[in-house]
Amino acid sequence: MRIDVVTLFPEFVQQCTGFGVIGRAVERGLLDVATWNPRDHAEGGYRRVDDTVCGGGPGMVMLIEPLRHTLAAVRQATEQSAPVIYLSPQGRRLTQDKVRELAGLPRVILLCGRYEGIDERLLEHEIDEELSIGDYVLSGGELAAAVLIDAVGRMQEGALGDTQSAAQDSFSDGLLDCPHYTRPVSHEFGDVPAVLLSGDHAAIARWRRMQSLGRTWLRRPDLLENVTLDAQDQRLLEEFKREHKGNTHEQDH
Ligand code: ADE
Repeated sequence: MRIDVVTLFPEFVQQCTGFGVIGRAVERGLLDVATWNPRDHAEGGYRRVDDTVCGGGPGMVMLIEPLRHTLAAVRQATEQSAPVIYLSPQGRRLTQDKVRELAGLPRVILLCGRYEGIDERLLEHEIDEELSIGDYVLSGGELAAAVLIDAVGRMQEGALGDTQSAAQDSFSDGLLDCPHYTRPVSHEFGDVPAVLLSGDHAAIARWRRMQSLGRTWLRRPDLLENVTLDAQDQRLLEEFKREHKGNTHEQDH
């Protein structure tokens, strides 16, 4: 997959692609991240990319022309067409479903804003989609682009090793992940749940599913509204709730 990023801070974005799973995906050629600086497509000695806000007010707004020329150059770099995605807090919230959808495309173009944002007319004419990574404001779209690149990059075929699996991630089936443990099995902070040491694979799978359901119910009940639980899942969740009630005071839940 190829991801083109239009940004005033190309080194920042490139740095984010150099480590761990994403670093290896780039090394292996599963993911190609290209950066484009609108300043290289700006005119005049100052290579100006922003100007004051029409109507007054603080801050600066990114100019249409440097971005328009940059996007034209990006599109021409390869034959593959690609959606242009603008990262901004006004966008639709990025979800794992959206990540999966984007990960299936051969190419996407990401546009990062700085300052107060980008002239609305550029967005109206050049943007296919606007995405937000959450309800908070960052000082630019670069970190949001890095988040998207990471989430999409790790979904590429072969990016995760044999021992890792995107299918087991939180959200992969609309639920949160179950807890994980490693050695030592006994520790002053507590013991590893006995079932995980039993060697009974069916019992372990059942326990993990119950924890996954239970954690989602406790921490993100909103997610349960969007999944259909079969009879077995419903039984597991009821069992979790019973055990949870036994372990906590009434007021907790
Ligand atoms: N740019 C600034 N804040 C952002 C956010 N929350 N998501 C995506 N892009 C952003």
